Amino acid sequence: MAKRTIVAMPGDGIGKVVLDEAIRVLDAAGFEAEYVYGDIGWEFWCNEGDPFPVRTQKLLEQHKIGLFGAITSKPKDKAESEISSELKGKGYVYYSPIVSMRQKYDLDICMRPCKTFKGNPLNFIRRGFSGIIEEPVIDTMIFRQNTEGLYGGVEWTNPPDQVYDALMTHRKFRENFAWCPRPELAVSTRILTKKYTTRIVKAAFEYAKARGLDTVTVCEKPNVIRETSGMMLKIAQEMAKNEFPGIKVQDTNIDAQMMWLTKNPELYHVVVASNMFGDIISDGFAGLIGGLGFACSANIGPEIAVFEPTHGSAPKYAEFSTSIVNPIAMIMSACMMLEHIGENAIAARISKAIADVVEEGKVKTYDMMKLPGKPDVFGKGAASTSQMADAIIAKLK
Ligand code: NAI
Ligand code: MG
Repeated sequence: MAKRTIVAMPGDGIGKVVLDEAIRVLDAAGFEAEYVYGDIGWEFWCNEGDPFPVRTQKLLEQHKIGLFGAITSKPKDKAESEISSELKGKGYVYYSPIVSMRQKYDLDICMRPCKTFKGNPLNFIRRGFSGIIEEPVIDTMIFRQNTEGLYGGVEWTNPPDQVYDALMTHRKFRENFAWCPRPELAVSTRILTKKYTTRIVKAAFEYAKARGLDTVTVCEKPNVIRETSGMMLKIAQEMAKNEFPGIKVQDTNIDAQMMWLTKNPELYHVVVASNMFGDIISDGFAGLIGGLGFACSANIGPEIAVFEPTHGSAPKYAEFSTSIVNPIAMIMSACMMLEHIGENAIAARISKAIADVVEEGKVKTYDMMKLPGKPDVFGKGAASTSQMADAIIAKLK
């Protein structure tokens, strides 16, 4: 098979460490690829005024597949104060490069699998009916709409005239918000389009169908957020009826769903939600299967796809001389990439190796031992980031 070219975007902090380890595992598993490195992150904001430089965009446009570590994003005032002095006051505005990337390339379908590894000491447990401790086996894929909704970026503080006037045409706005002085008003919109809502819902149905699953859960709040959540639910119900007759739609509210997570998470296999609710519910599920060290994701668009762990750059750990963080989330994200490009056999071998290491329980990073993240964790028996990757490589068959 022809050698693939993968755009490797390490980013900031621990992103750099975990991406290197994932590539080491990919190499050891026999995935033949060339990696071209794309600059991204805080350093490029500070030095160039652009955290997602055009040269990196070109690489992605050319090669289509990206592996991304994590970036550091800081609030507006920090972004303004940390940009280099030559660039200050020249109109540069910081936008999170990962959000920009998702929007620019229509990476609208975000998949976040949350799957229990046997033997993971971080697995969720609960007290069952007869008082016995149970460890439910969770196998859930969350489909999160990645480009619209509350994270769409259409927002104002002190909204301009046309926006304010338009809001005033709405009875609820007049009744509940007209009392507020305009400079004290902040508005963030939640815009959903039929096109992208249909795409994310369809991705969820197709996933369910391919695996013989009979239910898709729409996790929204249509009883309150009637227009947008309502639209997603309606699209799902119609799709079930017209295109996926064997699959039923289950409708849960995000708040109730968060509570049910600790009651019966094993009952949910395919969940679809808009951007923010998808973000929330996927973090909720991730907490049940080991947290950020195990949470991987795919951002899939019509042409380009980027794979990344859910965690951020964890700056406080980036300084450690030997890295303590868990590379499994990044390595599993690399497996999602392999599946996306049809390298299922290699993905399966790596996944099995991870499962074997976790089940055997000899090699554990600090998070798996529930230790505070300090440089002294090695003395307490924790493995380093690269020792974990070594253990996974050693299990490859
Ligand atoms: P974070 O995910 O970087 O870290 C939160 C905590 O989770 C860490 O302190 C650590 O205890 C744990 N953790 C994270 N990754 C881990 C791993 N691989 N193994 C073991 N433990 C791990 O989130 P935080 O601290 O809120 O944000 C730090 C920076 O990352 C911020 O600048 C934020 O904007 C950025 N961020 C970037 C994301 C991305 O690149 N997609 C996503 C989330 C945050
Ligand atoms: Mg999140």
